Amino acid sequence: MIDVTERVAVVTGASRGIGRDTALALARAGADLVLLARSEDRLRAVAEEIERLGRRALPLRADVTVAEQVTAAVTEAKRQYGRIDILVNNAGITRDGLLLRMKREDWDAVIETNLTSVYLCCQAVLPHMLRARYGRIINITSVLGQMGGAGSTNYAASKAGIIGFTKALAREVASRNITVNAIAPGFIETAMTEALDEKRRQELIASIPLGRVGEGRDVAAGVVFLASEAAGYITGQVLNINGGIYM
Ligand SMILES: NC(=O)c1ccc[n+]([C@@H]2O[C@H](COP(=O)([O-])OP(=O)(O)OC[C@H]3O[C@@H](n4cnc5c(N)ncnc54)[C@H](OP(=O)(O)O)[C@@H]3O)[C@@H](O)[C@H]2O)c1
Repeated sequence: MIDVTERVAVVTGASRGIGRDTALALARAGADLVLLARSEDRLRAVAEEIERLGRRALPLRADVTVAEQVTAAVTEAKRQYGRIDILVNNAGITRDGLLLRMKREDWDAVIETNLTSVYLCCQAVLPHMLRARYGRIINITSVLGQMGGAGSTNYAASKAGIIGFTKALAREVASRNITVNAIAPGFIETAMTEALDEKRRQELIASIPLGRVGEGRDVAAGVVFLASEAAGYITGQVLNINGGIYM
């Protein structure tokens, strides 16, 4: 059954975009939420939406690149809810640029936010899942981590790194009934993609077999499935939610 009733889910980057839609979808499917991001006001607004759906929501300000802030948030979540069943590593950024001109700070920021954060959040949450002998970890990678994209060496490397990380951790924790999977979205309409100029956008749409850009809820549906009881025999996989742009 696609059901996450009574489960507690931590979603990083839950203040907007795919993370917000994912948090709302998990709440609709019955989960209580822990919402992490840096923008406190936005997190509070998402928490209020979740509470209106009849579920609990705990907004916690945390920069996922800072180990102490991740640990403090996970400790607070455990204190308030007593358990953590689901972790969605969704926080991410882009700092696009051609390699020859890419500044070291743009390389580091993308690797730290997109990849090191996955290491930090998994390390903080895993002890609780191991003790409970139950867990669902879902890492948001990208089609660009699978097929590359000019101007995104830092982003593509971080997202390809997530795929390797997902498979390695899936093997490490499978015996404890913890699954670890990745979702690779294609082109999804959010703040991250609205910077594209109209010409590039139309070219992209023309290359998508399903003929449209995706929405946050397309990705959220995949997260809810992988977080559910129904997906208990799926681990170490990459679920492509991309309109067919990469098969
Ligand atoms: N949109 C797409 O087409 C697309 C395609 C493939 C993959 N993805 C991936 O999907 C995920 C979500 O993307 P999106 O499009 O929804 O992006 P978005 O609208 O820009 O949202 C990014 C989220 O990450 C949070 N975040 C960024 N840096 C953070 C940090 N250091 N600490 C904590 N939170 C941080 C942001 O919150 P604060 O700013 O409040 O901290 C925000 O909630 C990303 O991993 C992205 O790479 C997106």
